[in-house]
Amino acid sequence: MKVVSQIKDPIRTEMELFESKFRDSMSSQVALLNRITYYIVNRKGKQMRPMFVFLCAKLLNDGQVNERTYRGASVIELIHTATLVHDDVVDESNKRRGFFSINALWKNKIAVLVGDYLLSKGLLLSIDHGDFDLLRIISVAVREMSEGELLQIEKARRLDITEDIYYDIIRQKTATLIAACCALGACSVKPGSSDVETFRKFGEFCGMAFQIKDDLFDYGTEQIGKPTGIDIKEQKMTLPLIHVLNNCSNKEKKWLINSVKNHNQNKKRVKEVISFVKDRGGLDYAVSKMLVFKEQALRLLEAYPPSSYRSALELMVNYVVERKK
Ligand code: IPE
Ligand code: IPE
Ligand code: MG
Ligand code: MG
Repeated sequence: MKVVSQIKDPIRTEMELFESKFRDSMSSQVALLNRITYYIVNRKGKQMRPMFVFLCAKLLNDGQVNERTYRGASVIELIHTATLVHDDVVDESNKRRGFFSINALWKNKIAVLVGDYLLSKGLLLSIDHGDFDLLRIISVAVREMSEGELLQIEKARRLDITEDIYYDIIRQKTATLIAACCALGACSVKPGSSDVETFRKFGEFCGMAFQIKDDLFDYGTEQIGKPTGIDIKEQKMTLPLIHVLNNCSNKEKKWLINSVKNHNQNKKRVKEVISFVKDRGGLDYAVSKMLVFKEQALRLLEAYPPSSYRSALELMVNYVVERKK
C-alpha cells in the first residue's frame, strides 16, 4: 500500500481529524443504530472520496482547508456509505469491505432504514451549518445517483443497453459523487470561482474510470472484499459485455442475451459468458476506454502549477485505474 500512503502524505493531519469527525457524525440515541454504525465505521473503505475533497481544497488554497472542507468530506462519506448500504440490498449482495453486508446481518428492512438515516445525517450536517452552496452540489449528486441506479435497473430488465447508455449510467451512479467531492473541495475554499467547475469535471473523469475499473473487477477472481461475478447474475451488462455484443455474430449475440436473460443463476453458464467476453477482448476494450478517461482527468490538472497536492492528485488518478480493490 505504498502508493496510498504517498497520496495521503500531504493530507495526513486532515485525514486523521476527518476520521474522528466522521465517526461522531453518525451518532444516534437509538442503541440499535449505534450498534450498526459502530460496525460500519470499524470496517472502513478506501476513503478515496474524502481524499479527493482535501487534495482539491489544498491544491487551490495554498495547503489550507477550513471547517467547510471537513464537513464536506464527512457529508460525502456519509452519503457514499448510505448508497453502499442501499446498493447491497438492491444487488442482493452479502459481502462488503471483506465482511458481511448490513443486509446480510440485519436484513433488508433495517438496511433500508440505516441507509436513509445516514443520508439524512449527511444532509443535516450541511444544513445545520448553513453550507447551502455545498448542499446544492451534494443534493444534485444524490438525485443523479438514484436516477443512475434506476436507469440501470430499467436497462437490466430490457437488456437493451448501448455503450452510450452505459456511460450515462456510470456517470450518474458513480462519477457524479466523485465529481461532487472535487467540486465541493474547491467550493469549500474558493466559493464561486471557475475552479469549482474545472474540478467537478476532473472528478467526473476520475469517476468514469473508477466505475469501469469496478466493473472490470467483477470479471476477475481476485479477492476485492465484495463478491465478483455478480453483475451478470443481476442482468447488469457492463462495458466488456456490451463491447462483445456489438462485435459478434447474430448467433453468438442470441446465445449471450439468452444466457443473461434466462440462465443468469446458472453458475456454469455465467462462467462460460465471462470466458467468452474475455476471449473476445471485452476486458481489453474496457481497459482502453478507462485509460482515455484517466488521461482526460490528468490533462485538466496540467493547468495548475506543480505542487505536492497536484502530484498527489496525479497519483490518485493512477490509483483509480491501478488499484487492487
Ligand atoms: C464502491 O466504492 C462503490 C462504487 C461506486 C463502485 P468504493 O470502491 O470507493 O468503496 P469503499 O468505500 O472503498 O468500500
Ligand atoms: C456502484 O455500482 C453503485 C453505487 C452507486 C453504490 P456497483 O453495484 O457495481 O457497486 P459495488 O460493486 O456493489 O460496490
Ligand atoms: Mg453493487
Ligand atoms: Mg460493482
